[in-house]
Amino acid sequence: MADEPASPAAGTAPPGIDASVPQSARVYDYMLGGKDNFPADRAVGDAIIRQLPSVRAQVREQRAFLGRAVRFLAAEAGVRQFLDIGTGIPSAGNVHDVAQAVAPETRVLYVDNDPLVLAHARALRPGSSQGRVTFIQADLRQPEAILAHPAVTETLDLTRPVGLVLVGVLHHLRDDDDPQGIVATLLGALPPGSYLTLTQVTGDVHPETMAGVKASVEQSGIPYILRTRAATAAFFAGLELAEPGLVPVQEWRPDGPRRGAESTYNYGGVARKP
Ligand SMILES: C[S@@+](CC[C@H](N)C(=O)[O-])C[C@H]1O[C@@H](n2cnc3c(N)ncnc32)[C@H](O)[C@@H]1O
Repeated sequence: MADEPASPAAGTAPPGIDASVPQSARVYDYMLGGKDNFPADRAVGDAIIRQLPSVRAQVREQRAFLGRAVRFLAAEAGVRQFLDIGTGIPSAGNVHDVAQAVAPETRVLYVDNDPLVLAHARALRPGSSQGRVTFIQADLRQPEAILAHPAVTETLDLTRPVGLVLVGVLHHLRDDDDPQGIVATLLGALPPGSYLTLTQVTGDVHPETMAGVKASVEQSGIPYILRTRAATAAFFAGLELAEPGLVPVQEWRPDGPRRGAESTYNYGGVARKP
């Protein structure tokens, strides 16, 4: 796969984008079969595949979890606003695609710290006629700066429930970054009835394999923090977990044929702020 022909984007990195430094969004894009990645990203992806041959299935499971969770929030919990941090390069089944298919008036604020994600997002110009969709470049490690950004109040009504989505991003926060404090700060700004949706990779069941994945990714400079189920559950302290609770992502309300992922590599859960 590393020898696939480079996409036009791979040949001509936009201004301000360093193609030689691997980035999470582009490695993830490679795993999803996208074309918005560079050789350095594909090298990291291939190193992960060597450690965990089923990783592409795991990534698809995470993406499918995101879709099911957002559909649940939109269709069953009545959530009409989302704050999605660690958005990634737009792909099929983005948060606004799923939520606006249920309720076209849904508003979504996307946040990512990778300028390439923003470049793609601007080109996408998504959104139904009624629902507003906004993208900003900001860092999850600075939640106060995200909350203070004018796009928050321009896009979201913080007196009404918001779905906070942290899918595939918390493993990029080191414990020194105080991820629990970050999540608590974000949730603290959202009213009762808001929801937290997250995933977190783990070495609980396959410690050696996941230690190898972690080493491969971190060699490239991208933090890759594994957390236990207990450490992941701590993000939900004080919240009401929706059924079936905190489980491997593929076991969260599965709605179709399995995509081939087995066992436990990545926890996912959805919970309501009382
Ligand atoms: C693995 S992708 C997940 C994409 C998407 N949420 C999904 O589940 O399909 C992780 C994304 O988080 C972003 N990211 C990593 N660290 C971040 C940070 N500190 N602040 C904001 N975004 C971050 C990366 O740029 C990347 O786009």
